[in-house]
Amino acid sequence: MSNLQLSRAATAAAQAPPEGPIKIHGPEAFEAMRRAGQLAAQALDMLVPWVKPGVSTQRLDDLVLEFALDHKATPAPLHYRGFPRAICTSINHVVCHGIPSSKPMREGDMLNIDVTLIVEGWHGDTSRMYAVGQLNRRAERLIDVTYEALMRGIAAVKPGHTVGHIGAAIQTYAESERCSVVRDFCGHGLGRVFHDRPNILHYGMDGEGPELKAGMLFTIEPMINLGKDTVKVLADGWTAVTRDRELSAQFEHTVGVTATGCEIFTTSPGGFHKPPYTIA
Ligand code: MF3
Ligand code: CO
Ligand code: CO
Repeated sequence: MSNLQLSRAATAAAQAPPEGPIKIHGPEAFEAMRRAGQLAAQALDMLVPWVKPGVSTQRLDDLVLEFALDHKATPAPLHYRGFPRAICTSINHVVCHGIPSSKPMREGDMLNIDVTLIVEGWHGDTSRMYAVGQLNRRAERLIDVTYEALMRGIAAVKPGHTVGHIGAAIQTYAESERCSVVRDFCGHGLGRVFHDRPNILHYGMDGEGPELKAGMLFTIEPMINLGKDTVKVLADGWTAVTRDRELSAQFEHTVGVTATGCEIFTTSPGGFHKPPYTIA
């Protein structure tokens, strides 16, 4: 979720409490999460040719809503805590939770598209960065760093490690690239519930936080900034932006912890892992 703003008492209270048991799921749940994760990833693939100058983010929202209905799925964000659209579209200095609008995308914009689909009651949650035409080198570098940060976080997932190992892997790498890690939003447990225990912080130290166990399901979704990590939420109550208006990027996968590591449920069926996405 990149979801609830961790530092705000009100939203934190509404979020899953950090204490209490973390659900351990069996093979049937993994099967169901594979179906939900793959459908969400397929929706992101479907959008690739639509991300171009002149197209509105509302159009992307319409396309995902139609895709969901065609596949007997429900977009989880729609009406979730009052969120007004089916997807989140976060452009340039928007960190997360951007609301699709009729404003056309412009050449040189970069954006994150975040899709969560509910399939047979299970949530698949994934987001990627997209380029509108050609990006400048700073934007391209931030996207590369953010993708690598996510993959390093995923590589740290295995039984015996803790949530802190994930955050440490992400933070160490991002900061070594002179980028900053957003603290106000985090990854989250999920399954039949959209935002569940545990919170997955994208910073921290090895050994901190709950121990990872086979059968846990959660997202990893680092938001990485070129400038400072500080964020503010606009008057619409959702759109989170960097205070310094510098670029922010994010990628998100849904994973399940296995005996030896983890399974990524939201891998792109079309091989659209990070931009540039070239369509054959
Ligand atoms: N998909 C987002 C996440 O990664 C959640 C968006 S919150 C919503 O958790 F309210 F916009 F849906
Ligand atoms: Co999420
Ligand atoms: Co998401």
